[in-house]
Amino acid sequence: TERTFIMIKPDAVQRGLVGKIICRFEEKGFKLVAMKQKIGSKELFAKHYESLKKLKFYDGLVAYMATSPVVAMVWEGLGVVKTGRLMLGETDPAKSLPGTIRGDYCIEIGRNICHGSDSVASANDEIALWFDDSELCHWTPSNSAWIYE
Ligand code: GTP
Ligand code: MG
Repeated sequence: TERTFIMIKPDAVQRGLVGKIICRFEEKGFKLVAMKQKIGSKELFAKHYESLKKLKFYDGLVAYMATSPVVAMVWEGLGVVKTGRLMLGETDPAKSLPGTIRGDYCIEIGRNICHGSDSVASANDEIALWFDDSELCHWTPSNSAWIYE
């Protein structure tokens, strides 16, 4: 089954939005497979955002992300990579519709409260960067038969 990497960023942890963001994915019907809170090192975020290395905001982004705890999660379900991005909204919260996470809870692009993998390939890379295989839970939620036909 498809998996994605969702990270609650330092701004959302500081603002007490962790529960609300997790709630969106739980209520949708996706399955939580792994979760941890951690203050990531600059080295970790440099790797996580490696594809943005040439952009002018990269150094600031890496430094910012390492200042304070984030909550890293793996969510599983049919089409979870694409649907997860739709649930997050646009990168710029000003372009995110109400009803999306960024559309409802934030204002600026540099404080957009959550991260979601942009493809199945990057999801797999990010999950491997953040979690050991042994940290991923293999389980069947009791409501599965009521979410999938
Ligand atoms: P993520 O889910 O966090 O990866 O966001 P994204 O995939 O929608 O955007 P992208 O990967 O292009 O950028 C990663 C993060 O860098 C964004 O979520 C923003 O927080 C930040 N970012 C992107 N563009 C800008 C920008 O123009 N200025 C600033 N300050 N930050 C930016
Ligand atoms: Mg991205």
